[in-house]
Amino acid sequence: MKILIINGSPHSNGDTNYILKKIKEKYPKETEFEQLILYKENIKPCMDCRYCWKNRGCAIHDKMDIIWKDDYDIVILASPIYMFNVTPPVFSLITRLNMLWCNNFFQKRNLKLREKRGILVLVGGGNDAPTHAIDMAKLTFNFLNAKFDLKNDYIYSLNTNDIAAKEDENVTKLINRVIGIN
Ligand SMILES: Cc1cc2nc3c(=O)[nH]c(=O)nc-3n(C[C@H](O)[C@H](O)[C@H](O)COP(=O)(O)O)c2cc1C
Repeated sequence: MKILIINGSPHSNGDTNYILKKIKEKYPKETEFEQLILYKENIKPCMDCRYCWKNRGCAIHDKMDIIWKDDYDIVILASPIYMFNVTPPVFSLITRLNMLWCNNFFQKRNLKLREKRGILVLVGGGNDAPTHAIDMAKLTFNFLNAKFDLKNDYIYSLNTNDIAAKEDENVTKLINRVIGIN
């Protein structure tokens, strides 16, 4: 089984990465992980060059090609909440997914990625419900053809300004529920 992690945190030792580390520990040793650390990979945003209106695929070739390779069974979208939403490099990646829509709409193709599972990880300093980030994640999982259900596939830690994710007792419970291993 292969798991792709889309990591939208700038902090290698922050709240998002703490949760990702704990998630990784829950899976069997033979599980293969690939990670896109977006603050390092510099995946370009869509520039509306319209290549995908007339050609198959995207004109830009960068680490986004890992997404297009589509060889993973689970995709974990992990982001701190910025301005109630995902972080900017996550949004850049999401804009690049529009290639699929354009290929299908303008060229009458039927491009669809393999069905997979989506897991969402969000962390936020405050207590407000991250509705915009959740909506953005749902859109992303739709494009990636990843099944996602907020009840079963969502791990979060809010109020990290007061309690860091590593001190948040709820995180372990959520991980156990989502990964299904105790
Ligand atoms: C520019 C910016 C905007 C932020 N906006 C929000 C927000 O809207 N809601 C929230 O709960 N936390 C917000 N935060 C706080 C981060 O989500 C929080 O510190 C998070 O735990 C950092 O995660 P990390 O350690 O994985 O990077 C913001 C932080 C920054 C730097």
